[in-house]
Amino acid sequence: MSESIHILSNSSKKEKYMQLLPQIEALIRDENDFIANAANVCAALKETFNFLWVGLYIVRGEQLVLGPFQGPVACTRIGFGKGVCGTAWKNKSSIIVPDVSTFEGHIACSHLSKSEIVVPSVLHEEVVFVLDIDSDTIESFEETDEQYLTDICRMLQVSFSV
Ligand code: SME
Repeated sequence: MSESIHILSNSSKKEKYMQLLPQIEALIRDENDFIANAANVCAALKETFNFLWVGLYIVRGEQLVLGPFQGPVACTRIGFGKGVCGTAWKNKSSIIVPDVSTFEGHIACSHLSKSEIVVPSVLHEEVVFVLDIDSDTIESFEETDEQYLTDICRMLQVSFSV
């Protein structure tokens, strides 16, 4: 397996995701350890899009606990229904925040974060982890991100075991 990600630099965002997805699939296919796969997925997303922060929060009882991530240090625990992550957990659906200053209850781990997307991974009707991405510019995320990040969460879920 080649342990590097190759993305053509002049590609559109959609084209980048289309190049990235099969590479992520290949990267995690032969590994059954969830943490190892999650760590590589965060690195691959960060390297491809240069987002400010890419990481996972994993459901542990009544809280989300920080998992593998790339970017500045972040808060370690988020309650059910709190912040963007806890709200996506509660709603069992993705949230795109074009401007974090307008999201009531947004938890600011970094003052550089301007927009955010959170995609929950639902297994047997329960959220098991959320994928959280922050950008240092407003309005960075759209339906294209939600669509491909949902696919990536599904791939990651294969190695998830409670
Ligand atoms: N902004 C998130 C907290 C996690 S950090 O962005 C890494 C939230 O409101 O849930």
